[in-house]
Amino acid sequence: MPILETKGVKAYYSTPLGYIRAVDGIDLTLEKGVILGLAGESGCGKSTLVNTLMMNVRPPLRFIEGTIILDGKEISSMDRSMLKKNVWGVLVSLVPQSALNALMPTQRITDLVKDVVMHHMNVSEQEVVSMAKKRFEELNLEVDTLYRYPHELSGGMKQRVVIAISTLLNPKLLIVDEPTSALDVSTQKQVLKMLVDLKRAKIIESMIFVTHDIAVLRQIANWITIMYAGKIVESGLADDMLNHPKHPYTFSLVNAVVTPEPEVRNRGLASLPGEPPNLLDPPKGCRFNPRCPNAMEICRAKEPHLEEKSNRLVACHLVFP
Ligand SMILES: Nc1ncnc2c1ncn2[C@@H]1O[C@H](COP(=O)(O)OP(=O)(O)O)[C@@H](O)[C@H]1O
Ligand SMILES: [Mg+2]
Repeated sequence: MPILETKGVKAYYSTPLGYIRAVDGIDLTLEKGVILGLAGESGCGKSTLVNTLMMNVRPPLRFIEGTIILDGKEISSMDRSMLKKNVWGVLVSLVPQSALNALMPTQRITDLVKDVVMHHMNVSEQEVVSMAKKRFEELNLEVDTLYRYPHELSGGMKQRVVIAISTLLNPKLLIVDEPTSALDVSTQKQVLKMLVDLKRAKIIESMIFVTHDIAVLRQIANWITIMYAGKIVESGLADDMLNHPKHPYTFSLVNAVVTPEPEVRNRGLASLPGEPPNLLDPPKGCRFNPRCPNAMEICRAKEPHLEEKSNRLVACHLVFP
């Protein structure tokens, strides 16, 4: 049984101008034990998708349709109180993209730990702190850190602490949204190492790692899913996909990283001008067609669906004519 399975999931932002179709028909299967790298340029819907995958959907975001089965339970039909009690933190934990900014400057790390754990378990403060100490030791984080305020910690340390805390209730699936994007390369490495340690120590079995940086994916993911304009365009085994991308969008992403100069990389996709479309009114046919170097007549008329060929899923008329 996969840890996560979704069918036809749509979640739109409701705005005065209409719906922003940020998650628009997602079929995703995540097998147990996998570290899935979810990638795509900024604005492609990655953060909206990972929030929707755990049913953390709040206005203006609206769950439109689809089913989400997490660890055998259909969570797409659960209400918020049920999700809070039985799902969040316990089955799945999300370290959101803005986790570091959300830390309260007046709260010590221990206060944060208490918030996370005592919400779910009937345990004393002392027990909570000793749970946290044990986890910090397992992850080679200094136990002293627990008594510090956020501003006393470096960015990389804060990120590792927030990740460690989100694993306290031993969720089966951990989702981390761009945990390394704000960090320099050597600090990134420490965070990535800790994520791998979590898996190796069998604290976390399955993981979704969100990033817009393919170079980071190479270091951690064993399976990769690429998103473009609210849809999955390609999915497959990490090495195979990075070495032989089939979708023209994946090809552009992978090749953009080959450029070593950070200035060029930061400018975006060297080989691919333009940017992702406005999701209020996405292009007809394949959403990538206006930027695609290989676009054909059919790409402007008909939407390609994800199809499978030798362990790879691709949505492209060129690959599956
Ligand atoms: N609160 C919001 N209200 C309206 N639109 C939003 C909101 N948050 C994100 N969006 C839009 O949804 C789309 C997907 O955004 P997001 O999920 O953050 O993408 P990513 O994480 O890949 O950068 C973008 O077009 C973005 O502008
Ligand atoms: Mg994001």
